[in-house]
Amino acid sequence: MAAMRRVLVAAVALATASLLVPAAVAQLSPSFYGASCTSLESIVRSGMVSAVQSEPRMGASILRLFFHDCFVNGCDASVLLDDSSTLTGEKNAGPNANSLRGYEVIDAIKSRVEAACPGTVSCADILAVAARDGVNLLGGPTWAVPLGRRDARTTTQQAANANLPSPSSAIGTLISSFASKGLDSQDLVALSGGHTIGAARCASFRSRVYNDSNILAGFAQRRRQVCPAQGPNGDGNLAPLDAFSSVKFDNGYFRNLQGRFGLLHSDQELFNGGPVDSIVQRYARDGGAFAGDFVNAMIKMGNISPLTGANGEIRANCRKPN
Ligand code: HEM
Repeated sequence: MAAMRRVLVAAVALATASLLVPAAVAQLSPSFYGASCTSLESIVRSGMVSAVQSEPRMGASILRLFFHDCFVNGCDASVLLDDSSTLTGEKNAGPNANSLRGYEVIDAIKSRVEAACPGTVSCADILAVAARDGVNLLGGPTWAVPLGRRDARTTTQQAANANLPSPSSAIGTLISSFASKGLDSQDLVALSGGHTIGAARCASFRSRVYNDSNILAGFAQRRRQVCPAQGPNGDGNLAPLDAFSSVKFDNGYFRNLQGRFGLLHSDQELFNGGPVDSIVQRYARDGGAFAGDFVNAMIKMGNISPLTGANGEIRANCRKPN
């Protein structure tokens, strides 16, 4: 009887929760192209396999591309639009210029998807699946990606400048930036674990290694050697975001933070005597907990205001509106 009551309570809770979910969220489904483009997942996978084989960092670059897409007007491939005479888009915004990469990889995958299933699959969905595969190919988890997003017809550079968090952010700013997208503190920490792969430019970590005090002295010293104190000298010089294993998706990033050698100021803010220290500690201890929460948070991030139904379009070329 008690068991039955629990099931009933759970069912009512679920029904209530589904009423609260915006319709657009409920519409995404992993089987969206089940009948219309059966080869989608295998085409994306093989495109990502060859990209990661020729350069492992590309798995990281595509993951970041997806994050930067979703945080600016939702996951609508707006980040992929080139500047043109009628549009000044996101690519040259502060957080993206000379930094965001991987556009050619998405173009190559899109051409193969168009050849197999013309006019069917959005660039936004291709990016979501490619990001999942990049993570998985570098040793991270895999999951079923909810699909059915459509592509934006326009965007602005200003939207990217306003919505992407800066590496100089304090913890309170990071928490509120994520909260404004419907992501909580646990999502913030789990998704920041994306910094277990990839690299940052000196321009992004200069101030951290010269000015911060919550940094391991020897680590700061080593990073200063690749990052001259005065920009723009060395602005583009790279260092791994995870000092131990930047092409392996694991929980090493969180152990870096515990050792006070997070590369970005914003990384170390997650473990600096503040409100999310205990989450960092849990992920540093338990790689499985990190992987599970990362997957959930990626699905949540992928649900940020998608265009669905009759909104937006299926772009023929990811770089320009039809
Ligand atoms: C919490 C706020 C975040 C801030 C302030 C931030 C900032 C940055 C910065 C400054 C870089 C280096 C860019 C450069 O120097 O060229 C970077 C790289 C990267 N970020 Fe984040 N990031 C954040 C969250 C995320 C999230 C949520 C993800 C994905 C889930 C992510 C994935 C990546 C990856 C994979 C790279 C390396 C890219 C590459 O090697 O090409 N970041 N991030």
